[in-house]
Amino acid sequence: MTSNPGAALWNGQALMSSAQANRLTVVAGSGAYLETADGRRLLDATAGLWHANVGHGRESIARAAYDQMCRLETYHLFGRFANEPALALTDRLAALAPVEGSKVFLTSGGSDAVDLACKLARRHWQLAGRPEKRVIVTRAQAYHGLHAFGTSVGGLDYNRDGYGSESLVPETARIPTHGLAAAAAAIEAIGPERIAAIMTEPVLGTGGVIAPEPGYLEGLQQLARDHDILFIADEVITGFGRTGVMFASERWGLTPDMLLFAKGVTSGYAPLGGVLVAPSVADRFFAPGSEAIFRHGLTYMGHATGCAVARANLDVLETENLIARAAELEAVLHRAVQPLADHPLVREVRSGTGFLAGIQLDPEVSGDAVSLACIDRGVVMRTINANTLQVSPPFVVTDAEVATIAEVVGAAMDSVLASSQA
Ligand SMILES: Cc1ncc(COP(=O)(O)O)c(C=O)c1O
Repeated sequence: MTSNPGAALWNGQALMSSAQANRLTVVAGSGAYLETADGRRLLDATAGLWHANVGHGRESIARAAYDQMCRLETYHLFGRFANEPALALTDRLAALAPVEGSKVFLTSGGSDAVDLACKLARRHWQLAGRPEKRVIVTRAQAYHGLHAFGTSVGGLDYNRDGYGSESLVPETARIPTHGLAAAAAAIEAIGPERIAAIMTEPVLGTGGVIAPEPGYLEGLQQLARDHDILFIADEVITGFGRTGVMFASERWGLTPDMLLFAKGVTSGYAPLGGVLVAPSVADRFFAPGSEAIFRHGLTYMGHATGCAVARANLDVLETENLIARAAELEAVLHRAVQPLADHPLVREVRSGTGFLAGIQLDPEVSGDAVSLACIDRGVVMRTINANTLQVSPPFVVTDAEVATIAEVVGAAMDSVLASSQA
């Protein structure tokens, strides 16, 4: 027994010299609320890491996991093998895909999906006889997870720094966050004949909740098509309702060659992710008699219990009409947080595109102090890129709880401002 429980845990994205002292241990959850080891009840304003779309503590999902584990914990999907929940889930996801006839390659999470998509993009062009098309292009401030590919293609430089080379995986490039003309110029400079794929989040999440300018996503997809470049939508955050429709691609009329999902597919009740692969890429592999093979796979891709959980989670989303509710909540959240733009500590409030918002603080304000002051007032908050507070509650919150989140953020900023003036 250690005298300091949890001393061995190395947190993600944390300064470990201080993380242990400030740890917040969550022990239970119900709906939009969490309970901490020190007995506090907190409103989860971020849905964890944007994952808890249907909220916490769902017994029907837990039962689906229990039932599946009693029957079969999992069986892999390599070669000829499959398990029943993976078959049922992939059929169901294909029917929801924005591109008809899509195939589904499952993974164990979002970064795995990013890895897969980048590899498959390169594989696609190798098989198409255009092996020079290898560069993966993303937007400045994009976040695509932290596996080697995600680290390399991400648009948050601090995640790429410190490994001794510009990019862990070679042949990546970035375009500016906004502007189609700027994107077109960057693509010309890189050389479209070298580019395998352009990947983007429909709404940049960890980059600070940055919505696309009108026409941007549609234009970026067109630019890709004009240059024989695959278009990849990373919907790890936006998938399964966050922008008021099943996939954000629907909202902007996008037909991505690949669509990445994770988080909301299970609402976090089990780790799972995947890629919806449109016929533009999948057909080559599925054509009768094709010799094309994609040498990729993970032990836990399509984990049977994870897939059973995903199906139960989709049942909840559907039977409780939670995506329509998220669509309603978009305006509720927008109205609640916009007045915060007048607060002296705030640089910008970004909201109104999906049920998520970013409250960007002035650079000299300690975002961490504001987040902590929110937690002290009963609302879980965290700071993401560019000193921005992340607001992305579970879809089960009430209008009043959304108002509470905004009030608490305001009060937390007041207290940080007061202590800075003391
Ligand atoms: C847009 C996006 N892509 C990929 C990932 C990586 O997913 P995971 O953390 O499940 O590996 C994330 C995680 O936040 C994300 O927001």
